[in-house]
Amino acid sequence: MKIKSSAYMGSFLAALLNSSVVSAAYSTANSSILLLSNDSTMNFDLLTPLGESITGGGDIGPILGAAKDIEAGNMTSFSEVFYKLANDTKAQAEDPENAYDPLNVRETWFSAASYFRKADGYLHGNWSNPLINSIWAEHLAAFDKGIAALPIPGKRIQIPAATKDNFTIEAIWYSASESNHDKLPTLIIGNGFDAAQEDSYHNFVAPALARGWNCITYEGPGQPTVRRNQNLGFIPDWEKVVTPVVDYVLSEKKQVVDENRLVLIGNSFGGYLAARAAAFEPRLSAAVLIDGVWDNYAAYIRELSPEQIEIYEAGNYTQFDDLLLTAREAGKLPTGAAWGIDQGLWSFYTHSPADFFTQVKKYNVEGFIDKIKIPVFVGDAELESSYVGQPKQVADALGQLATLHTFKGVAGFHCQTGAGQELSRTIHAWLNKTLG
Ligand SMILES: *[C@@H]1O[C@H](CO)[C@@H](O)[C@H](O)[C@H]1NC(C)=O
Ligand SMILES: *[C@@H]1O[C@H](CO)[C@@H](O)[C@H](O)[C@H]1NC(C)=O
Ligand SMILES: *[C@@H]1O[C@H](CO)[C@@H](O)[C@H](O)[C@H]1NC(C)=O
Ligand SMILES: *[C@@H]1O[C@H](CO)[C@@H](O)[C@H](O)[C@H]1NC(C)=O
Ligand SMILES: *[C@@H]1O[C@H](CO)[C@@H](O)[C@H](O)[C@H]1NC(C)=O
Ligand SMILES: *[C@@H]1O[C@H](CO)[C@@H](O)[C@H](O)[C@H]1NC(C)=O
Ligand SMILES: *[C@@H]1O[C@H](CO)[C@@H](O)[C@H](O)[C@H]1NC(C)=O
Ligand SMILES: *[C@@H]1O[C@H](CO)[C@@H](O)[C@H](O)[C@H]1NC(C)=O
Repeated sequence: MKIKSSAYMGSFLAALLNSSVVSAAYSTANSSILLLSNDSTMNFDLLTPLGESITGGGDIGPILGAAKDIEAGNMTSFSEVFYKLANDTKAQAEDPENAYDPLNVRETWFSAASYFRKADGYLHGNWSNPLINSIWAEHLAAFDKGIAALPIPGKRIQIPAATKDNFTIEAIWYSASESNHDKLPTLIIGNGFDAAQEDSYHNFVAPALARGWNCITYEGPGQPTVRRNQNLGFIPDWEKVVTPVVDYVLSEKKQVVDENRLVLIGNSFGGYLAARAAAFEPRLSAAVLIDGVWDNYAAYIRELSPEQIEIYEAGNYTQFDDLLLTAREAGKLPTGAAWGIDQGLWSFYTHSPADFFTQVKKYNVEGFIDKIKIPVFVGDAELESSYVGQPKQVADALGQLATLHTFKGVAGFHCQTGAGQELSRTIHAWLNKTLG
């Protein structure tokens, strides 16, 4: 899930029409894990910081305490509880008694940053809400104190896209070695619909550094910091984002990067984005899709009622927008639906649900998947609700280049949220076998 909060965009539409349609993964009536909230979306959004805690992105008791304090289904309550926890944790990070030790500093600031991220997650429905930027600024400042206290500090970098594309990629470089000449395998890591590159540190970077891999995380248009600073929504031709990152790695980090083991990871909706980039960027050695995505429009539209699809397909966008926005404003939608509309409009930079769906039609791998020429790990999740069946479609189209792996049971949530150990060991075992 990327972590829908990692995003799991598909289920919001399921929820829109009929909350009981949402798959077993999010059904509180039949959960495969102990519930953290009776609201299935919030249950997931509480599992994400718990999952990040295994690599220092939170502490168990405080998150379980927050879970107890949050009123199920009340998005304001969720934000406020995490905002308060973030503030309290920040105060602990600033306590001079603790600051003598970089490990204290790092853990406490990383946890504060995670809690600020959670405080932000449900705020995007009102673009004028000043908390969207103020909490994010706190989040970035906290995270930067965390990466500065790593044994080898992480470094923020801005990478310009091609001149004609006119945007700037936000990235963070993490070295696995102090040496200036060891050429090490390197991961390029990107998220999807809503998660931040700071989430990627906990989900992918920390496990990779521990295994001797350098990492670079990045954000492009539509993703948290670029969306805020540059007012840009998602673009489908994602090689415009990844190619400048590859250029950077192979020039600025030439001495320390093994160009034969340069791997792109895409998380959640990033399963589409990474596939797109891999089709047009020949210098990558392999790609890892967590999980495989074929067609985003197909995934979302099937959750609408036939009447709604008809209105949209007939081109009556005014009526379609009214229908969805009125339901949202009335405050009667399930959390997943409300959040999905808020985040979808914000991250695609539009106020029109119809425009959102029209944009999403472009996020389909069919037209370019045959251009991918490298080995691809295609993840699938047994409890996935958005992209059901799509990872297999991707793997079938890739043929011998693909390894399809289904994560099962309690590791089977969207993006394997809450099962970070299984995710990391599976990815790294595949990389070892594939590139070794
Ligand atoms: C609950 O989940 C289990 C395991 O996936 C399944 O066998 C069972 O049919 C489900 N029960 C209901 C009521 O959905
Ligand atoms: C869910 O609701 C039930 C019934 O009201 C309650 O007993 C239980 O404690 C709730 N679970 C959580 C995680 O809030
Ligand atoms: C939601 O939570 C907020 C903050 O705790 C509270 O002020 C508000 O009254 C709650 N809303 C509803 C509808 O209960
Ligand atoms: C968190 O701290 C800020 C000031 O830094 C304050 O404005 C805000 O009200 C606090 N939020 C909560 C929920 O405690
Ligand atoms: C959005 O936020 C702004 C700034 O806080 C506020 O003035 C406005 O009333 C809010 N709009 C809605 C629809 O809540
Ligand atoms: C580039 O982007 C900036 C900021 O978004 C904008 O002001 C400027 O007009 C753009 N330039 C071109 C050539 O598109
Ligand atoms: C669009 O829907 C509205 C509201 O139902 C209706 O009044 C209008 O005639 C429709 N327009 C078209 C072109 O179908
Ligand atoms: C795979 O693991 C083996 C055993 O540790 C090691 O010798 C080899 O270097 C690894 N290969 C890669 C590509 O990491």
